[in-house]
Amino acid sequence: MTWQADIITLFPELFPGPLGISLTGRALEKGLWACTAHDLRSHGKGRHHAVDDTPYGGGAGMVMRPDVVASALDALPGDGRPVIYPTPRGRPFSQRDAKRLAAGSGVVILCGRYEGVDERVLEARGIEQFSIGDFVLSGGEIPACALLEACVRLLPGVMGSSDSATEESFENGLLEYPHYTKPAEWEGLSIPSVLLSGNHRDIAAWRHDQSQRITQSKRPDLWAQYAARKPGI
Ligand code: ADE
Repeated sequence: MTWQADIITLFPELFPGPLGISLTGRALEKGLWACTAHDLRSHGKGRHHAVDDTPYGGGAGMVMRPDVVASALDALPGDGRPVIYPTPRGRPFSQRDAKRLAAGSGVVILCGRYEGVDERVLEARGIEQFSIGDFVLSGGEIPACALLEACVRLLPGVMGSSDSATEESFENGLLEYPHYTKPAEWEGLSIPSVLLSGNHRDIAAWRHDQSQRITQSKRPDLWAQYAARKPGI
């Protein structure tokens, strides 16, 4: 069955964008997933198809109207797919969320622009809010692409066994170990000798140790979670 992504946006021409090439692009051609962008403007109000208005309480910027957003959402089939609104105010999007979404039948993504979307429609339609990091982008379209790529690569048949997901970062709660390829000597820099040893047990142990060190130094938050689950550490 095709995993269906519907995207509500003021810039439908941005999709599938980068998702139209490489792994996700081939999966799109194979019909493993489908991506339909819907123009929010077509639900706008009045002669100018307004989608936003000034914020109650005053302040800078514009807010997307709840009636316009609801009209766009309600025009889609009510098939129970999660509706997602990317926003810096959301819960951090994680690999676990990508797995959960990939296991379903697809997603609806509402892309905000301006200051954001009227809070009432987010609550009334049970919309999940996700952030892709602690920085601010101008709209939800790039986060939507990031989120979709994270999901689509996990769909059955999308990744070949050669790019298996089993050894990736977050798979075991740790960041991935470093990689090296030819030449063995480059700009006077060699590679860790264990990788040339042919001893798979030593290599696995070295990689696991590297994963731990990297996670500990770069992501103390992940390390604390990992250590809490493995009392020996
Ligand atoms: N929209 C704007 N910035 C964002 C972010 N960091 N994450 C998700 N959605 C966003």
